[in-house]
Amino acid sequence: MKVGVLGAGTMGAGIAQVASQNGCEVVLVDLNQDMLTKAENSLDKILVRLVEKGVVSEDEKINIQGRITYSTDTKDFKASNIVIEAIVEKLEVKHAVFANLETIVSDDCILASNTSSLSIASIGSALKNASRVVGIHFFNPAPLMPLVEIIPAVQTSKATLDASKALIDSWGKVTVLCKDTPGFIVNRVARPFYGEALRIYEEGIADFATIDWAMTELGGFRMGPFTLMDYIGNDVNYAVTESVFAAFYYDPRFKPSFTQRRHSEAGYLGRKSGRGYFNYAEGAVQPEPNKDMVVGQQILDRILAMLINEAFDAVFMQVASAEDVDKAMTKGVNYPKGLLVWAEEIGLKKVLSQLETLFTEYGEDRYRPNPLLKRMAK
Ligand SMILES: NC(=O)c1ccc[n+]([C@@H]2O[C@H](COP(=O)([O-])OP(=O)(O)OC[C@H]3O[C@@H](n4cnc5c(N)ncnc54)[C@H](O)[C@@H]3O)[C@@H](O)[C@H]2O)c1
Repeated sequence: MKVGVLGAGTMGAGIAQVASQNGCEVVLVDLNQDMLTKAENSLDKILVRLVEKGVVSEDEKINIQGRITYSTDTKDFKASNIVIEAIVEKLEVKHAVFANLETIVSDDCILASNTSSLSIASIGSALKNASRVVGIHFFNPAPLMPLVEIIPAVQTSKATLDASKALIDSWGKVTVLCKDTPGFIVNRVARPFYGEALRIYEEGIADFATIDWAMTELGGFRMGPFTLMDYIGNDVNYAVTESVFAAFYYDPRFKPSFTQRRHSEAGYLGRKSGRGYFNYAEGAVQPEPNKDMVVGQQILDRILAMLINEAFDAVFMQVASAEDVDKAMTKGVNYPKGLLVWAEEIGLKKVLSQLETLFTEYGEDRYRPNPLLKRMAK
């Protein structure tokens, strides 16, 4: 299999590594020679570490490196069976790039995009033969995160979908099938993890440290929402929230938060700027959570009910199967349990009643319980 990867940044370099580790011949193209050199050097360091750990042998290391060709010329994609694009997230740039790729590759070459937020249908519209377009959405870091969302557009042929899913499955990834809708599965269903946590803070119910404590200690999540937003970057996380909100025609369920916006505007971006919701300066004293079990449980129940409602909505609106929604959240963002399985454990009636209480109290559409949850609870 000959795999082209366009863009040698964070995602492209990782995808090229995965493809090569699985025996594919890879051509990695970037406009910027420095990015290619950086990708090559960083792969070398990663492989040295993997050899030291005994994960790959010295011979395998040499083969993995040997299977990747680095180039600044997209014409080198000529013999590719599939090209996966991972360049800047701008629709007009992707359009130009996809139109150009089609003039280079063979008629049956699949053209895939790793976009996080653009519609695959809109990207495919730049192609003469749009039946070859598909979304193949990896998670960062691509070599370590098992989940890949496979997104057929309205134009995608069954042959394109089947071949791309089979290829990514053969790389040992966990694939889930997802409708071409904003945020796909993970970036849609996970919104309340941030949004409801921010809302709870804004209402003065608890501070950042207490909300994080409730979600990690009582909920079993690996990171609390504020630590995670600081890790992702408040600018990046806020931009995703705003784009999902706009893409859903301003559905109040996805409303962004002023707190996050102000943190972002202030340059409190998180770890990368040394300060976000928490202070990452050397020697900074971290705030202690208020370990009140009653408050903690209320915080966990509220955020979890909102996440479960979102998971039900993804199934209700046929974005993905229940099984794939649960797989996506456990394999893509390390949730301790699938949200739908979790809902059954808690009891659907109980989750519904929590949402109904919020809906009645606030009168906001944001808290409306999903019809599928209502039906199933009944
Ligand atoms: N970073 C993430 O966590 C993440 C996760 C999943 C998906 N994505 C998506 O993957 C894509 C890439 O994101 P990233 O974080 O790797 O970006 P990045 O900025 O790290 O890398 C982008 C690379 O593309 C190159 N590039 C830009 N325009 C180009 C062109 N016309 N031709 C060739 N190369 C070009 C740049 O030189 C750069 O090396 C985006 O669509 C993004 O939405 C990102």
